[in-house]
Amino acid sequence: MHFVATMSIIDLQHTASGATCRIHELGATVLGYRNAAGRDVLLLSRDAILDGSKAIRGGIPLVFPIFGPPSDDKSTMPQHGFARNNKWTKLSTFDNEDAAGAQFQLLLDDVSAGRGTNNPWEGKDYNVKLVFDIRFDGQSLTTALRMENTGSVAFSFQALLHTYYAVDDHAALDPSRCHVKGLAGYEAHDKVTGAKSLASDEPVTIDGEVDRVYTPPAGQVNAKVEISVGTAHPVSLQCQGTIDESPVPVSVVVWNPHEAKAASMGDFGNDQYHEMICVEPGILLPATLEAGKVAVLEQVIRS
Ligand code: BG6
Repeated sequence: MHFVATMSIIDLQHTASGATCRIHELGATVLGYRNAAGRDVLLLSRDAILDGSKAIRGGIPLVFPIFGPPSDDKSTMPQHGFARNNKWTKLSTFDNEDAAGAQFQLLLDDVSAGRGTNNPWEGKDYNVKLVFDIRFDGQSLTTALRMENTGSVAFSFQALLHTYYAVDDHAALDPSRCHVKGLAGYEAHDKVTGAKSLASDEPVTIDGEVDRVYTPPAGQVNAKVEISVGTAHPVSLQCQGTIDESPVPVSVVVWNPHEAKAASMGDFGNDQYHEMICVEPGILLPATLEAGKVAVLEQVIRS
C-alpha cells in the first residue's frame, strides 16, 4: 500500500501587485495563479484529489522523467513519471517589490511513489536532483524546472510543464475565442489518430478530443505561442530548454479531453473540458543528461 504523507498547500502573495499563487507540496504542483487584475489564469479541476494519493488534475503538474506511458512495456513507472507523485521539500519563499515566489526540491532518495520496476530508475546508478522555481508578479508567472544528474551514469529523460489554462465563459470549443497560435511549421503528431502532419498557419482549435505533440522545425529551439482563453487579451507563453547550458528544442503538447474522456476521468468534472486548454511545453525528444550535468526547462506565462 502506498503511504500518503501529510501534504500542505502554500499560499503566496506578491504584496506589491496583489497577485497570488497557490502551490501543493505534492509534485510542487502550482494549483493556481491569480494575476493583479484578479483573473485565475490556470484551471484546477473541481474534482482534483488534493490528499496526496494521486497526481493533481490541474494547475501545472511536472512531468519527469517520462512523458506518457513508459516506452518499454515491462516498465511499471506510471504515465508522466514520478515528479508529480511525490512530496517535494519547500526550500524558500520570497516577496519583494519585483516579484514573489518559492523554490522546491525533490531528491531521488525522497521518491517513494512512481519509480516503478523494470526500468533503470529503480537501480542504484541513477540519481537526480530536481529543483523547481516559481516566480510571479502582477502580469506574469515563471516556472523553471532544473534537473541535475547527481548519479554516476548518463540517463535519458523527458520533461514537461503540463499547464492547464482556464478558459472563460466555457468557451474552449469556440474556435474564435479559444485557440493556440505560433505552431505553424511544427510537425504535429496526433496521438488520437496516430497521424503526423505539418501544422499550417491556422490556429489550433478544440474540435473534439485534441491530444497532439508539436515538434519544432529544424533550427527552432524556443517556443513562443499565444493562447486565446475566452478573454479580450490572449495569454502569451515563452519557453526555453537547455542541457548543459546549450539550447535544446522545446516541443508543445496541446490537449483537451473533450466529452467522452472527460467523463472517464474520476478527478475531472464532466463538463470541464469547456473551461480549459492544456498547452504543455517540454523536452520530449528524448534527451540525454550526462552525469554531473544540468538541464533546465523554463516557461514564462504573461496574462
Ligand atoms: C497529456 C497527454 O500531456 O496529458 C495525454 O498528451 C494525457 O495523452 C494527458 O491524456 C493527461 O494525462 P494524465 O496522466 O494526467 O491523465
